[in-house]
Amino acid sequence: MKIFEADITYQVSDFLNKTLKRIALFESANDKIVDVCGIHHYFNNQEEYEVLKNILSKTHIVVKEPDRAEYGDFQTNIDLAVNVAAYLKHKSANPKIILEPTCGKGSFIIASLRTFDRIEKIFAIDIYMPYVWETKFSILQYFIDNPSANKPEIVISHFNVFDFDFTEISKEYTKEEILIIGNPPWVTNSKLSRLDSTNLPAKSNFKKHNGIDAITGKGNFDIGEYITLRIFDAFQNSNGYFAFLVKNSVIKNIIYDQKQRNFKISDIQKLSIDSKKEFNVSVEASLLICKLKQVPEFICNEYNIYAPSKLINKFGWVDDKFVSSIALYQHSSGIDGICPFEWRQGIKHDLSSFMELERVNGHFVNGLNQKIILEEDLVFGLLKSSDLKQTVIDKTRKYTSVTQKKVGQSTAFIKKDHPKTYNYLYKNKSQFDLRRSSIYKGKPDYSIFGIGDYSFKPFKIAISGLYKKYSFNLVVPQNGKPIMLDDTCYLLGFDRLDYAAYTFILLNSEKTKKLLKAITFPDAKRMFTKDVLMRIDLMKLAMQTQKAKIKNDIDELNTCYNLKIQTGTWNEYIATMRPQQTEYADAKQLTLLEPIINYNWTVA
Ligand SMILES: C[S@@+](CC[C@H](N)C(=O)[O-])C[C@H]1O[C@@H](n2cnc3c(N)ncnc32)[C@H](O)[C@@H]1O
Repeated sequence: MKIFEADITYQVSDFLNKTLKRIALFESANDKIVDVCGIHHYFNNQEEYEVLKNILSKTHIVVKEPDRAEYGDFQTNIDLAVNVAAYLKHKSANPKIILEPTCGKGSFIIASLRTFDRIEKIFAIDIYMPYVWETKFSILQYFIDNPSANKPEIVISHFNVFDFDFTEISKEYTKEEILIIGNPPWVTNSKLSRLDSTNLPAKSNFKKHNGIDAITGKGNFDIGEYITLRIFDAFQNSNGYFAFLVKNSVIKNIIYDQKQRNFKISDIQKLSIDSKKEFNVSVEASLLICKLKQVPEFICNEYNIYAPSKLINKFGWVDDKFVSSIALYQHSSGIDGICPFEWRQGIKHDLSSFMELERVNGHFVNGLNQKIILEEDLVFGLLKSSDLKQTVIDKTRKYTSVTQKKVGQSTAFIKKDHPKTYNYLYKNKSQFDLRRSSIYKGKPDYSIFGIGDYSFKPFKIAISGLYKKYSFNLVVPQNGKPIMLDDTCYLLGFDRLDYAAYTFILLNSEKTKKLLKAITFPDAKRMFTKDVLMRIDLMKLAMQTQKAKIKNDIDELNTCYNLKIQTGTWNEYIATMRPQQTEYADAKQLTLLEPIINYNWTVA
């Protein structure tokens, strides 16, 4: 049964009906209710009170739930909420003040009432009025069932959490033990932007990322992360505990940023939950717990919420290095440094239906199955993450039209020099213009990103950022033309096959695999990123690798793939790894003075 779109039990409805029948004024009704369950301002005004009384006296209609995607709405079931509260009690939490910043239907409020017996005040907030009502109804139900239970003062606010001043609460309760408990919205700013939603903090660039981070995905953040940081800002000097259910990516970011933010939090724990079972979604999420008003800590201990006595992993900061497994890192830190060559992301165009082509009977076909005639000059083979299967790749399933040689280059030449390509692009110009990402704004028509000299290097080492495979592929030209990679992949480009092959061998070594296992997070959307790959110090790795192993592996590559890689250039290769000044301090794309050699080979 629903009232104000909120679930209400017959018992609560009956109770309200009988209790309020003879009370005319909403203030008198509020006085009555505060005695029963502690909730202040149960009714906000006379009109609201009368509407409720009117509805209570009629038959109730079940209301269809609206689409609440923009509110990251995943309500915690009461069993899980009770489990969380019990774990906190076991850790000796015994709060007097409870704060649930996005309370939803109120499971954490009920769980807290059931678990802690000396609560004096509860604050709850939600933006959705039906949930505010449902929380009120549930609390009333709790006190109907438990009339002699401890009755704190309860304030439930229908409010936008982004406008809520938490410091008012932290300043008022400086000594009392507080518990900030809940499950903030599971939604990212980029999803909200796709939904054209305004459910965002005013300062949505709170991490101070720049436009380029839109390409790498660094500018993307979860609303839950923003709320967590605001809570730490307001309550790091309060006594007590913090406990939020959040996505694992949020926990990783919080610990990562802790190095810089130095929040006074310690005993940081991540207790993984089964999101499929608890929320019927496939999102990796956990309970993040920590103690407030402590000497800052930078490490998180991982457990499973269903068997919390067994420590599973420790991750966080080891000196100035951020690692996913402190235990594994001890055995692989020796090659953690800076890659002397610069890893690059592949081509980004955000228009796969038009820009990803297949070759069929001498012409091209796009994602909409349209037949297209293009000049060959601007067409290059294209590899996506799912194509990185074979060790050595010289053929592609897909092709793409490369409209620029570097980011921002004018595309005016296409009309004059490549009229068929121009016709195709012009016909679909509106699709290019509709691309939402801000990176395309003010750029030449048909612009692409992730393009530069490095894209045209004949020999490449590639890895998918999305797949959880610790293996690198060697990509060689297709019919004499360099092969491109899409933006789900990362690459190192080389002019020489032997240098590419040496790098391929080093990157596929056990040592590299161990380092990657110690610094990557398997539940991240992109397990491998430029930042991660740039940490593989190829110079140190080369120094720790036997020449005989390199020779052996080169021989194997030559035999298996009919390559003609020379092996006498190892020292020369090492000499190219000179420290250079770039964004990554020493990293620079490998460019050689020698002319491009040896296009004349095939892969079996
Ligand atoms: C993941 S649900 C969790 C609800 C509740 N904490 C629980 O554990 O069941 C997130 C809640 O945040 C609320 N919410 C979303 N955006 C909000 C905002 N800007 N201000 C306040 N609440 C918001 C939603 O209405 C929803 O109830």
